[in-house]
Amino acid sequence: MQQQDVLQKIAQILSDLAAEPKKLLNYQTPDELKNTLALDRENPQSWTALFSWIEKYLHYSAKTEHSNFANRMWSGANLPSVAGEIITALNNTSSCTFESAPVATLMEKYMLEQMLRIVGFENGEGQMTTGSSNANMIAMMAARNQALASAKTQGLFNQQPLYALTSADAHYSLDKAANILGIGTERLIKIPTLEHGEMDTAALNDAIEKIQQTGGLVFFVCATLGTTVRGAYDNIEQILALKHKHHFWLHGDGAWGGAAMMSSELKAKYLPGLDKLDSFTMDFHKMLGSNLMCNFLLFSHQNLLSCTCKGGENGYIFRDDALDLGVASLQCGRRVDSLKWFLDWKFYTQQGFADRVEQYHQLANIAEDFINNSIELEMVVKRSSFNVCFRFKASNANAFNQALRKQLLIDEQALLALAHIKETLVFRLLISNVNLNKTRLIELLECVIKTGKTINV
Ligand SMILES: Cc1ncc(COP(=O)(O)O)c(C=O)c1O
Repeated sequence: MQQQDVLQKIAQILSDLAAEPKKLLNYQTPDELKNTLALDRENPQSWTALFSWIEKYLHYSAKTEHSNFANRMWSGANLPSVAGEIITALNNTSSCTFESAPVATLMEKYMLEQMLRIVGFENGEGQMTTGSSNANMIAMMAARNQALASAKTQGLFNQQPLYALTSADAHYSLDKAANILGIGTERLIKIPTLEHGEMDTAALNDAIEKIQQTGGLVFFVCATLGTTVRGAYDNIEQILALKHKHHFWLHGDGAWGGAAMMSSELKAKYLPGLDKLDSFTMDFHKMLGSNLMCNFLLFSHQNLLSCTCKGGENGYIFRDDALDLGVASLQCGRRVDSLKWFLDWKFYTQQGFADRVEQYHQLANIAEDFINNSIELEMVVKRSSFNVCFRFKASNANAFNQALRKQLLIDEQALLALAHIKETLVFRLLISNVNLNKTRLIELLECVIKTGKTINV
């Protein structure tokens, strides 16, 4: 097949898919699916075989844009960003240098300026990274190198022991960062949370003082701005007061809940003090719906990203340190993520994204009210922001809810997210789907109730 025919066929498959009535998924067990896919089949240079796999891929993948796909922090993707992804794949370049990706470079810089402005980092800098896990690690790395000037060149041998602190509900990527950066996972101290899931700032202060008394150096505190399970926001202003006293780097992990910054009302409610952080990250591919992956990391300082990340002889690739984005990155090749981001931004604008997060916030409120008024369902913890953690009431509740989720999946009805709050299993409903409205949300909860009534555990 000629390239043009291949592209036409892809366009045909995609437009047929868009015209089909949306079914959430076609369930097969892993073994059944393995047989169906016949992955071992040899068909060298056969486009017919490739298209048959493409069709199976689409047939057996969950339609994440379906309103009963309530499994993750994202659903579907914004159409402008999908257009951007297709073009990026066809053009296939790396946004490490201006020469190899001139338009992508300027779009990334432009978008970072927009985010710096909204966050309020007047003299800051930023970069797109591969996701918030990596962004959290880069922030921790910058803090480490600021605290111990020789850490970058000499490592951590024979140095004052370093400690990073975060909430017990922080994302596991912080543990990975402590491992990778040589801090040690036991020196990532987890601070207990309060009733609504936010970090206990008094306990944070006590932990810092205890570490200092034993000769340790607290170099980094991560405030989670929308925890993964409960959606709690750590209190930035209280932690800032401790920062002034103890002089650590304060990072905000807004991977999920940072999207509240788009709305002035929700920013004031959940993110006061945001502009005083040392660094902040957010995933545009989560609540705001850009195609995966689409992340940014911002510093309120200048020239730190490149002095943190730069290393080795790179004269073969970079021509201009101020222009080439790869200089301040941990990667060499950099996927172009800026085109899709820019297209989404120009299409929806900040106002469109503000309306979206406000709508999700209202739907979360509606879900909570519905659950509180229901005979069968119950909230496991009070809602802090966007996340609704609930379950079906049952005597053997954990096993029951596990079975209920499985049944919803096998029946191809809904794909719910599970999480634990202490020992309790919960359904973690994260509203991040533009196809969800009040009617569909209630249909989803009613579907959980209807199937729940058939479960015997
Ligand atoms: C609070 C928080 N931080 C970080 C991450 C990691 O983000 P990414 O998947 O972009 O690495 C997540 C992912 O769910 C998260 O919820």
